[in-house]
Amino acid sequence: MNRRMFLQSALTGAVVAVSYRTAAAISYFPTKVDQALFQNINRVKDPAAKTPLEKGHAPVIIAPASVKAGDLFTVEVSVGETLHPMGPAHWIQYIELSIGNEPAGRIDLQPKGYMKPKAAFTLAIPKESATEGKITLVARQHCNLHGLWEGNFDITVT
Ligand SMILES: [Fe+2]
Repeated sequence: MNRRMFLQSALTGAVVAVSYRTAAAISYFPTKVDQALFQNINRVKDPAAKTPLEKGHAPVIIAPASVKAGDLFTVEVSVGETLHPMGPAHWIQYIELSIGNEPAGRIDLQPKGYMKPKAAFTLAIPKESATEGKITLVARQHCNLHGLWEGNFDITVT
């Protein structure tokens, strides 16, 4: 191999490597997303006038308004008022639930289409966890294109 052929093949290899790296980066880290959604935890700003993005991403928590300390109850968390899509380019990566600031559980989801962004958690609140007679459930979900979203739900504990 002479010098000219060596330089030609090295240059071709570099162009192919850069092209491959760029294509891979675009498919895994799409650039056409609103970067502002990834800078904070997103929440519904006005519950009486939700935007389409808020309707599609804010966690919807279904739980009893009042529970007895120590008794089992179920909390359902859905992503969106109508369930968020779950395809390979746009999906919900996880749903997690906290009791106040204490993490309670988390479910990771795969973008396979048959997995839907809805989870059920079974809880029992000890009396000592609800010193003021109530707790706040905090649900969070992460969308690969629209960032982290949070919703709250207060429960009275008797
Ligand atoms: Fe989304």
